[in-house]
Amino acid sequence: MSGPYWPYSISVRPNPGGFGAQVEGVDLSKPLAPEALAAVRGAWAEHAVIWFPDQPLTHDELEAFTMQIGPFGEDPYVEPIEGRPHILEVRREAEEIATPFGAAWHSDWSFQERPPSATLLHAKVVPPRGGDTLFADGCRAYETLSPLLQHMLAPMRAIHSASRVYGPDGVYARDGDARAMRLRIDPAADGRCAHPLVRTHPVTGRKALFVNPVYTVGIEDMSVAEAESLLKFLFKHMTEDVFVYRHRWRPDTLLMWDNRCVMHNATGGYDGFQRLMHRTTVAGQTPV
Ligand code: SIN
Repeated sequence: MSGPYWPYSISVRPNPGGFGAQVEGVDLSKPLAPEALAAVRGAWAEHAVIWFPDQPLTHDELEAFTMQIGPFGEDPYVEPIEGRPHILEVRREAEEIATPFGAAWHSDWSFQERPPSATLLHAKVVPPRGGDTLFADGCRAYETLSPLLQHMLAPMRAIHSASRVYGPDGVYARDGDARAMRLRIDPAADGRCAHPLVRTHPVTGRKALFVNPVYTVGIEDMSVAEAESLLKFLFKHMTEDVFVYRHRWRPDTLLMWDNRCVMHNATGGYDGFQRLMHRTTVAGQTPV
């Protein structure tokens, strides 16, 4: 899907290979007409990561656009903006030395029974260098595995947990560095939830690898050593350059990704400069 949609002026410019696309010709500060919303949804399903440049949105407008995609997801462990329970501030101040939030490959809240279908990130303050976000295409990663390995993975269920990040022994409890973001350490983060290791996208029907290095802690009915070896192989494969899109931010860009088939990773490289993004999520379904 690309080019202008007459009589709407929406244009979708995919990256070579089709993973990621820039969408222009819509004003996200206003409710979208049904046809325009359908075009946005279509581009999101087809390209998995879509971004809209030059969208200076207020909190109300960001919330309203998110709700056109679907109802809000549940965002644990990160304190939202005061009075805005569904908007998280991904903030790092110029003087901070802590690792940037989200700086490892992950899929949002994959330890939930119903992880979010979409995450939206709105760039408010962008540093002059660094601070890119990387996205990895879980569908292409799956599709390029050998049929034999695809067959072996089909019945497997991966175990997800927030323990390594938000548990009492997790990285944020241990690192001790001052952060502008208010993160919540919680024993509940040690809970576990199993999902199919390969999930089927409810719109496109494509299969995707649904594991990530931050929240996937094992595979059901496998020894720790077996699961670690297999996951290590999959993570290396999933993050090969050929599956990765690097997004360079500009202020007022709104980007949304399909959290059902995409991992992401926030990069650093902007010490001495502030970076500020606003983030919402859209509720998802139980992965199948
Ligand atoms: C996140 O993991 O949601 C943060 C992504 C980013 O700040 O680039």
